[in-house]
Amino acid sequence: MPIYDRPENIRVDDVYLDLHAVVDIPVHLKVEAFNISGSIKLKTAVGMVESAQRAGLLPPGSTIVESSSGNLGVALAMVAASRGFGFTCVTDPNVNRICVKMMRAVGAEVLVVDQPDQTGGYLGVRIATVQRLCAESGGKMVWLNQYDSEVNADAHYNTTATSLFAEFPNLDYLFVGTGSTGTIMGCARYARDHNKPTKIIAVDGAGSVTFGGPPGRRFIPGIGTSRVPGILDATLLDDVVVCPERDAVAMCRRLAQRGLLVGGSTGSVLASAGSYLSRLSMDGCSAVALSPDLGERYADTVYNDSWCLEHALIPPAERADGPR
Ligand SMILES: Cc1ncc(COP(=O)(O)O)c(C=O)c1O
Repeated sequence: MPIYDRPENIRVDDVYLDLHAVVDIPVHLKVEAFNISGSIKLKTAVGMVESAQRAGLLPPGSTIVESSSGNLGVALAMVAASRGFGFTCVTDPNVNRICVKMMRAVGAEVLVVDQPDQTGGYLGVRIATVQRLCAESGGKMVWLNQYDSEVNADAHYNTTATSLFAEFPNLDYLFVGTGSTGTIMGCARYARDHNKPTKIIAVDGAGSVTFGGPPGRRFIPGIGTSRVPGILDATLLDDVVVCPERDAVAMCRRLAQRGLLVGGSTGSVLASAGSYLSRLSMDGCSAVALSPDLGERYADTVYNDSWCLEHALIPPAERADGPR
């Protein structure tokens, strides 16, 4: 039986870190990295592949193709390999190098598009490339399309949200970074359907167009888009916070000094949660922030001084990765 057919191989016991004493933010961090693919996107990948198989969309010999900033690509590459499908990932220069190596190690093909679209982002070009590959493949390639697939949100409704609300039945605030918006839509729909009191706060990257902001260059993978995802229903959200990448990087490096190495988008979510909650009275209130991945994937970027300086994400005087 393929390893990803067993729910116990995908779902790992929930890990929540209380960050109040660590960085003075009254929030629990729900760490989603502890599964075989190392990120929250394994749940999306398993959900979308299973759904496509059930619908008869993946006959033997198919190759799955997807546009991904890296984590979904790694997860899909593993699930595809375990079920005997091919996988092609279309990504962009912001992808973490290690993710590309991981995908190739399990037999996937990785295409890195390097032409930004008019917005300065890459999503439009990534999607056009996926569509071209499918058109040229004579039906062999199947696009699961995380941006428009309700199955993406359903996967989080059935996993991320159920375990979160089992642990925090009356949660007051939930902070979620948004890329495809699958994670936040699954959690928001669950909260609505179960009459939860929870305020659902989206955290987006500055330069992302998801919530109508002006487009701009972005370097942190996973969070933000240059095209509004089809599955986004903003009416289910209570607020949106837009996080400059400098603040995200500063938060990551601050946490690193306390011994916690998180991914770039986790830095965005925590920086935003920190400033948001500091304006509120949190007496008796609970807050959770979702952490999609951990920091080892970002050793060459967020935790690398040269990279941060090159992209003007840290002040010139600040160095954290030691002498070289
Ligand atoms: C590191 C990281 N953060 C945030 C997200 C956003 O999650 P979603 O696509 O469910 O909105 C992703 C998705 O790929 C991610 O990889």
